[in-house]
Amino acid sequence: MYDFINAACEIAREIGEYQKEQLSKPRHVEFKGEINLVTEVDKACEKRIVSFLKDRFPSHDIIAEEGGGHNTKSEWCWHVDPLDGTVNYTHRYPLFAVSLGLAHKGKVVVGVVYEPNLDELFVAERGGGALLNDKPIRVSSNKKLIECMFCTGFPYEKELMKESLDNFSKMLFHARALRRDGVASTDLCYVACGRFDGFWERGLFSWDVAAGSLVIEEAGGRVSSYNGGPLDIMSREVIATNGHMHDAVLNILGEKK
Ligand code: IPD
Ligand code: CA
Ligand code: CA
Repeated sequence: MYDFINAACEIAREIGEYQKEQLSKPRHVEFKGEINLVTEVDKACEKRIVSFLKDRFPSHDIIAEEGGGHNTKSEWCWHVDPLDGTVNYTHRYPLFAVSLGLAHKGKVVVGVVYEPNLDELFVAERGGGALLNDKPIRVSSNKKLIECMFCTGFPYEKELMKESLDNFSKMLFHARALRRDGVASTDLCYVACGRFDGFWERGLFSWDVAAGSLVIEEAGGRVSSYNGGPLDIMSREVIATNGHMHDAVLNILGEKK
């Protein structure tokens, strides 16, 4: 596993440097949907990551957001978000990240998320704990909703927006504070290191959640689907908490009866 972690950290740092260098330059924006953007930086980052992973691990599959992955029917699969937070990036809002999760037979075993502007590298290995810049991290110990700061994301798909706003307003009545940072991978890692007490979002993809969900689990937190069942990274939804708050969040937002 050591080689996989080292490789993911190496390419995440390289890509993060490139993203920082390019941030102030003029942006060419294309539209995958009305508010779902992609820039030449997303594409360049993905091209470089895919070529790096293919070179290091030629037999591994890659699922990457901009479609540059490859499929060899391997038991190993990298889930890659080359630039998480593209809308932030386009507006030069300084939170964005690169996220790489490696799954074996569908189970995430390595997660690496790098936020270049803060120079924060989150790393997790299944069974080996979670680190932020080489130091072990733990989820928060808050046990009451009114002590909690939660984060969520707003989907690009119009049909998911109403539920998303309803959930936001439901939680607003219970929590100390809510945030929307615009970078699902680091939102999850912020739960892992105790900055947030929980996170939820529907409409995500495996490249958004693979790495961050393992970082949370390895930091002592809990991740699940909206009905409280085990997280399936392909299911496009996640509820993540410090563990103590999980049932309370599910009771408010989830489909738990
Ligand atoms: C998006 C961000 C955002 C989340 C969206 C994601 P992208 O990823 O993670 O926080 O709300 O659902 O799609 O498009 O910037 O890689
Ligand atoms: Ca993303
Ligand atoms: Ca992205």
